[in-house]
Amino acid sequence: MKQIAGVLLEVVQGDITKMEVDAIVNAANTSLLGGGGVDGAIHRTGGPEILEACKRIGGCPVGEAVITTAGKLKAKFVIHTVGPIWRGGENNEEALLRSCYRNSLQLAVEHRLHHVAFPNISTGVYCYPKELAAKAAIDEVVKFLQTNPKRSLERIVFVCYEPENTRLYQDILDKLENR
Ligand code: APR
Repeated sequence: MKQIAGVLLEVVQGDITKMEVDAIVNAANTSLLGGGGVDGAIHRTGGPEILEACKRIGGCPVGEAVITTAGKLKAKFVIHTVGPIWRGGENNEEALLRSCYRNSLQLAVEHRLHHVAFPNISTGVYCYPKELAAKAAIDEVVKFLQTNPKRSLERIVFVCYEPENTRLYQDILDKLENR
């Protein structure tokens, strides 16, 4: 666990749908109509209310984020963001992945949320290399916290589903100084 600008950053291994936080972030696709992976788990566990809310929104461009009810989930909200598909790294993938984290946190702050849980966006079906994604994710979250004073955030949890991501995130977090 590390503290950055007064906000706790931590890594846990597990199922993000079980997290009791204000918002869990979903690794969605541009249609917002659900899918496999964490998207599937959130819609399955959260129930049809989430999909209804997503249909009313109508879609989400890559790198952007939208917020809906969390339905039957323990969380209060789901922030749906659409990560880039990895195409070799020369197609603006890192900038788009960073904007997923930045825009999700911006939405959380706008809704005065305190606790937010992220999955490892784009590192499953979208094939983003795990180590590159972990570095970009944590670096972008740290940058956001250091440049957005007076915000509501108190705790950000990186929820890793596989041991490889858990190890990667923990190693990066361990190297961060408390700031
Ligand atoms: N809790 C936490 N993390 C999970 C869970 C879960 N229940 N299920 C899967 N994951 C992890 C995966 O192991 C991976 O590390 O989430 C990470 C992101 O993988 P995906 O869910 O495949 O998301 P992504 O790579 O961003 O691809 C998005 O997949 O499910 C579809 O509709 C989605 O088209 C979109 C695409």
